[in-house]
Amino acid sequence: MNIVLSGVKPTGIPTLGNYIGALRNFVKLQNEMPNAEFFFFIADLHAITVPQDPKVLKQNIKNLAALYLACGLNPKNLTLFIQSEVKQHSEMGYIMQSISYMGELERMTQYKDKVQKQVTGVTSALFTYPTLMAGDILLYDTRYVPVGDDQKQHLELARDLAIRFNNRFGNTFRVPEELISKTGARIMDLQNPTKKMDKSDDANKGCIFLLEPINSIKKKIKAAVTDSEAVVRYDKENKPGISNLMTIYSALTNLSFEDIESKYEGKGYGDFKGDLAEIVAAEIEAIQNKFNEIISSPMLDELLDKGREKATMLAQRKIQKVYKKLGLGR
Ligand code: TYM
Repeated sequence: MNIVLSGVKPTGIPTLGNYIGALRNFVKLQNEMPNAEFFFFIADLHAITVPQDPKVLKQNIKNLAALYLACGLNPKNLTLFIQSEVKQHSEMGYIMQSISYMGELERMTQYKDKVQKQVTGVTSALFTYPTLMAGDILLYDTRYVPVGDDQKQHLELARDLAIRFNNRFGNTFRVPEELISKTGARIMDLQNPTKKMDKSDDANKGCIFLLEPINSIKKKIKAAVTDSEAVVRYDKENKPGISNLMTIYSALTNLSFEDIESKYEGKGYGDFKGDLAEIVAAEIEAIQNKFNEIISSPMLDELLDKGREKATMLAQRKIQKVYKKLGLGR
């Protein structure tokens, strides 16, 4: 059985970057791989690596659960769960800490970036975050992990730790493979297109949130930073703004960059941005409509209960095997 697993942190409202780089691909994979099993979770333990307001966190967890479904995941072939409700995640995270080295965690670029921005109050959980993520993946004998580009290094660590454990203690974990899509694995900030679009940047004009008013989304796209050449052409180095918008366009319409270039030949950025604003707005409006139905439906809690049960059963089986291999307990 091939298991496809991924998680999203409930910090703030998911962005267009989360949607294109992750959530939308989850739905695509579910359609393309009818024989695989799909495990998606709300990574709330990961969220508390930086300070969270408990009330807001609780709301974000529920919103994210509903958004997974609103984006189009089929609940019939879905184990949807909340990470903290499956206690084995914390246990496996600790086991992963015990076989990882300070040096390899210090090399994680996401940690280094965050530390640079934050300076004080960096938690030790932020440092060990990739070991928790490795545990999330290895608990379920995951075959494929669909993620955006920024998670690549964390996934490599998960692979290294699986191989290391298997070598030391005998075959225990399946070594997971990353699934990173060619287009849209890194959507950039609309105001600062050399920086990743990030949901932690609240109230940012360069970030589109899946639950923000449609008008505001359109405005942000029309106000996105471009360049003075006024030619719709993909050139990531010299024209990062328009290239990012073309990436969004391409991801949502399946048109290639060449198709988009010829479609807008001789036209300015205004036409292009106007069309893109409509494309993004239509996609997000459909998600918001479904979200509004799901968020108040009892089906959501039922699905999360079922997800917790199934995940716990599998995770418990794995953690017992791991404890035995390690010689823990009686
Ligand atoms: P998180 O919550 O930061 O992001 C969720 C997913 O969205 C992708 N992503 C993006 N893709 C394209 N462009 C962007 N600007 C962009 N921003 C985010 C991320 O790559 C990710 O796929 N550590 C993870 C959550 C996690 C996880 C796991 C994932 C915890 N355990 C186990 C996979 C497997 C995270 O912080 O994602």
